[in-house]
Amino acid sequence: MFVSPDPKSHADLRHATIAMTEAIIRALSVPGPRSALDPTELAAQVAAIDPLPEQGASLDAVLTDLAPILEGGIRLGDPNCVAHLHPAPLIEAAVAELAVGVTNQSMDAFDASPAATFVEDALVQRLAQLHGFPGGSGVMTMGGTASNLLGLLLARDAAGEDVRRNGVPQNRWRIAASATSHDSIRRSAALLGLGTEAVIAVPTEPDGRMSVDALHAATRGEDVIAIVGTAGTTDLGAIDPLDALADHARALGAWLHVDAAVGSGLMLSDTHRSRLEGIERANSITADLHKLWWMPFGASALLVPDVGALRAVHHASVYLNRPEDEAEGQLNLVGRSLDTSRRFDAFKVLVALRTRGRRQLGAMVDTVLDLTRYAGEAIERHPELELVAPPHTVMVAFRRVGDDARNVAIHRDLFASGEAVIGRTTVDGRVALKLTLLNPSTTRAQIDALLDLISAA
Ligand SMILES: Cc1ncc(COP(=O)(O)O)c(C=O)c1O
Repeated sequence: MFVSPDPKSHADLRHATIAMTEAIIRALSVPGPRSALDPTELAAQVAAIDPLPEQGASLDAVLTDLAPILEGGIRLGDPNCVAHLHPAPLIEAAVAELAVGVTNQSMDAFDASPAATFVEDALVQRLAQLHGFPGGSGVMTMGGTASNLLGLLLARDAAGEDVRRNGVPQNRWRIAASATSHDSIRRSAALLGLGTEAVIAVPTEPDGRMSVDALHAATRGEDVIAIVGTAGTTDLGAIDPLDALADHARALGAWLHVDAAVGSGLMLSDTHRSRLEGIERANSITADLHKLWWMPFGASALLVPDVGALRAVHHASVYLNRPEDEAEGQLNLVGRSLDTSRRFDAFKVLVALRTRGRRQLGAMVDTVLDLTRYAGEAIERHPELELVAPPHTVMVAFRRVGDDARNVAIHRDLFASGEAVIGRTTVDGRVALKLTLLNPSTTRAQIDALLDLISAA
């Protein structure tokens, strides 16, 4: 039965919720970061499941059939599961997903989400304020990639020509971003018709932050429409000198977009907030809430100092946002977003933020940054390991002493055996291993044990 006012459907909902919770708990109870099944075994397991059977079955029977799928994933709460910026979500945010799905509001039109529309609006206003935009606003997106695309779309449309009508002037406009900025900057340039070659890769200092001298040199004589500052790079967690970038953007008349997909969590912390000084001078900010804010996917925001900036994506739709709606006090968020139908993800964020409060979340950020610093020190002390760069935020890049092939083998073997899921990347042309520490309940002893496991692998 589908969701309805009928009390029979409420009994079904209660039963289904309990059955699903039990299935989740069984899957979470399997020890270790993952089960040691190779890709062939996993593919065979999945191939045995017909995704569209002729006849359905009871939910209990389906959950029993699908138990290997839930158990075949990675277990994010395990201290050896540290590959990506991919946290174990807060329980209250995860279970709020049930309300998001069951009530199924759509964030495009006021008549599809009357209360939800005002909730998202209030949430993005509060987030904007936290990031230094008093009176600012924004819109929720599916992730950091989508927020970066939207931020750069605003930059493109503010560059002084009617791009929506006439298209992009050929081969002229440039975006300057650090050589270690996220792939989504280049992907956005391609999607926005600027081309990947429009992105100037500005060299970084040895610690991973964008070099300001190099930025000045690289942008000389170029028609730069946007500078992208990264507040927390993907591999080293480095925070670009945002104030200096804001100065240069102003001098060039360029848009400043700050990709704080990683760093926005630091705005929660009384200790670390000041490291993002200058962020308040940005024209747009990516604040990714499914990273250092511990939300389940997808939860991100694009924040702007003035909601008027989002008019670049506004379109009048006869069935969604009629001109008279606003006069009646309604708000149609379709005018701020690249999506039409859109989930009420703001609800799970609201539930979690109100449950934890800013101070507790800030303390969690402090804890994971401390743990990462500790991991960096432990790597430096370790005779078999070498640090690539001192950690800035929640990731630490390092190598097992030896050649690239050995480090590749360590990463693969630990994944295959199910003992640890760690990250692997390339820094300055050499393979590096990476830990991304997002779990505040991990202990120093567990980090020591993981490093010993890696060095012995
Ligand atoms: C700096 C940075 N920006 C953007 C992204 C993309 O975020 P998402 O995976 O939420 O699309 C990432 C992902 O790791 C990132 O590290």
